[in-house]
Amino acid sequence: MLVVGPNGAGKTNLLESLHVGTQGFSPRTRNDTQLVRFGTDAGRVSLRGRRGEAELELEVTLEPGKGKRAKLNGAPLRAAELLRAEASTLVFTPDRLAIVKAAPAVRRAYFDRALGRLFPAQAGLSAEYGAAVGQRNAALRRVASGLSSRDALEPWNEQVVALGSDLVAARRRTLEPLEAPFASLTAEFGLGGGRLAYEGDAPTREELAGREQRDLERGTTSVGPHLHDVALLAGGRDLRSYGSQGEQRLAVLSLLLAEAAVLVERTGIAPLLLLDDVLSELDPGRRSTLARVLPGGAQTLITSTTAAALPVAPAQLLEVSPGAVRAA
Ligand SMILES: Nc1ncnc2c1ncn2[C@@H]1O[C@H](COP(=O)(O)OP(=O)(O)OP(=O)(O)O)[C@@H](O)[C@H]1O
Ligand SMILES: [Mg+2]
Repeated sequence: MLVVGPNGAGKTNLLESLHVGTQGFSPRTRNDTQLVRFGTDAGRVSLRGRRGEAELELEVTLEPGKGKRAKLNGAPLRAAELLRAEASTLVFTPDRLAIVKAAPAVRRAYFDRALGRLFPAQAGLSAEYGAAVGQRNAALRRVASGLSSRDALEPWNEQVVALGSDLVAARRRTLEPLEAPFASLTAEFGLGGGRLAYEGDAPTREELAGREQRDLERGTTSVGPHLHDVALLAGGRDLRSYGSQGEQRLAVLSLLLAEAAVLVERTGIAPLLLLDDVLSELDPGRRSTLARVLPGGAQTLITSTTAAALPVAPAQLLEVSPGAVRAA
């Protein structure tokens, strides 16, 4: 589905509302006040669709100050974020180039979210590990200032090793199924075949013990998956440092489409794909490739300022003008 309209018409708003309505949060901001139309005090997204064979009705109401409420097929949910378990939505926005070019923390956050989508039972693992590191850091500072003895570090060392090892294993398990589709998609896009490589090993007790003096001096934990990274490689180059703007865009797109392929394979249900401003910076050949490699059966929305930017005829063309969306 191609969504066209001039700058400022509301294309990104439309995609954002679909993300809020299917996932319970915006990909752009955690501040729900920004999502409510200026001059009004509440907003609502109501969606109807199908998940596989089942009919699905989703509703998210935003009332700044009162929080967020979500309904699934008419029944209230405990938290809007629970919608994530019902519908998968993958989103590309130009901000997401950060996944390739920004600091490792951005990649860790991205892959930890992917981990949550592919292994929902382990969605909380990264936060649990982060909390253990925080506790160890607090304990390091207590020991350094003489408020506790070194024994106080022991339980946190154990937690960091146990949860850290689980997290490294879970991240590797997440990358594994993505690798083959990522390689073939990046090859289709002419990047020479891409590779994902996890950089880091599970922390061990010995390693932590070896770093203890240094960690005490600095008050932070200097080993573990909170410092790891994922290398994105293509054609023998590291795209993190050497990818061109367009290549970085294609790498992010390949990651999303790889995950879509894995979700289809595992659940039989294609995710909703929201591709905002993806066509700019892509040459005509790569725009055609994108149209060709989009997962069949998935609902995909692509925004553009002109219909001509997509070299193939879309299944549906939506025209956005301020305050209105109409099928062309
Ligand atoms: N809370 C809000 N209430 C009312 N208008 C808003 C709100 N937040 C943003 N806007 C405005 O909505 C308009 C549409 O923005 P949007 O980002 O959807 O445009 P767009 O069609 O994606 O444009 P572009 O092609 O430049 O990306 C903008 O003028 C923006 O300032
Ligand atoms: Mg926009």
